[in-house]
Amino acid sequence: MIQLAVNIDHVATLREARGGIEPDPVHAAVMAEMAGAAGIVCHLREDRRHVNDRDVRALRDVVTTKLDLEMAATDEIIGIALDVVPDLVTIVPEKREELTTEGGLDVARAIQQYTDLVSVMHDRGIQVSFFIEPLPAQIEAVRACGADVVEFHTGTYANARSAAERHAEFTRLRLAAELAGDAGLVVTAGHGLTRHNLAEIASLPNLAEVSIGHALISHAVMVGMERAVRDYMAVLTHGSLTATR
Ligand code: PXP
Repeated sequence: MIQLAVNIDHVATLREARGGIEPDPVHAAVMAEMAGAAGIVCHLREDRRHVNDRDVRALRDVVTTKLDLEMAATDEIIGIALDVVPDLVTIVPEKREELTTEGGLDVARAIQQYTDLVSVMHDRGIQVSFFIEPLPAQIEAVRACGADVVEFHTGTYANARSAAERHAEFTRLRLAAELAGDAGLVVTAGHGLTRHNLAEIASLPNLAEVSIGHALISHAVMVGMERAVRDYMAVLTHGSLTATR
């Protein structure tokens, strides 16, 4: 069964719209776990535009499944990760001006730097995932760094403007998932996934988990967090929402 990790960043985005204390991403995380989510994800960005340091520490206290801290490999955020000790860190590229993460990390270009990072995290008992494009050279680099998990960027698939483009990207993801599984990596995927495109992604070989934020939180605004998590889990299990209706 493919697991669902819920990214609660955009609960914090809504809070930051007014700069107050509501809605609380920590509350959202507890509700998502109670509804069956297998993990909670948050991205502590350099500019703290949504999740902040307090959230990460409070999440560490309350999350009982798995806390995945998405982060850029900067000295400041590495220091926070080593202090907070999430179960997993997912290393992502980060640009201040982007609306959301744009594409995968180029792990192959800095293998030694990332090998050292994996080793520092492992010394603290933290597992490491790299968010990459579904490319053989990047998969090999992630394996060579000693990482535990690979997360494939599904944004290109999600944003494809034609069936042919989507099919070509799905083929790239399928081959990459096979390769990563053969390399002994835990295979996960995320970015741009919705209850409409999730069923095909769930058919990828070796896929252990998906990480979903914006679309799930948007759905939760309409139907509530518990229902939203159950709906996404139904798509993962049955390929559609029918089981929850
Ligand atoms: N995985 C990674 C590495 C991400 O950076 C994001 C966006 O924060 C997601 C998954 C979730 O993407 P979305 O919000 O589009 O579901």
